[in-house]
Amino acid sequence: VSRLDSFIRRLEAQRACLGFAAERVAGIAGPVLEIGLGNGRTYDHLRSLLPGREIFAFDRQVGAHPDCVPDAAHLILGDFRETLRKFPRVMPAPAALAHADFGSGDKAATRALAAALAPLLPPLLAKGAIVVSDQSLAIEGAQSIKTPENVLQERYFVYRFLG
Ligand SMILES: C[S@@+](CC[C@H](N)C(=O)[O-])C[C@H]1O[C@@H](n2cnc3c(N)ncnc32)[C@H](O)[C@@H]1O
Repeated sequence: VSRLDSFIRRLEAQRACLGFAAERVAGIAGPVLEIGLGNGRTYDHLRSLLPGREIFAFDRQVGAHPDCVPDAAHLILGDFRETLRKFPRVMPAPAALAHADFGSGDKAATRALAAALAPLLPPLLAKGAIVVSDQSLAIEGAQSIKTPENVLQERYFVYRFLG
């Protein structure tokens, strides 16, 4: 497949998995965590999928389209390995959904980041919460759920946190 095909498939996988996750958290109270705001594409999509749901976005810096920048109370800037560690103490309630999209071209750095992120997630999650990620994550207390039919395995990852 060409790089264009691969890029399109990645975006389709993201959209399918976010839609799948949004349906599954309909009955679970709690905010959404967008880990890696980037240019705000998936943040914007989550807003439209879950209207009225509080969404907290994390990134090192603001790089999002101006329409997709959360207000100051919902934008947490800094290295998420630090900001997420402190977040359980200040968040209004455990999260129903976390979307973590942070992979870069540096495979070793991305693997290290995934290893650092996974143990930070359980204290942030409600029982039954869904985690969607572009990386495989070893989250204690969570089980992997099969991604939607049209998403190739290993392209996007979905987990349910059992608590
Ligand atoms: C692939 S982009 C996210 C794209 C986003 N999902 C979208 O649809 O626009 C990944 C983002 O993660 C952020 N990021 C990566 N590692 C980070 C870290 N350790 N702390 C904070 N942000 C980080 C990067 O700054 C980048 O904006």
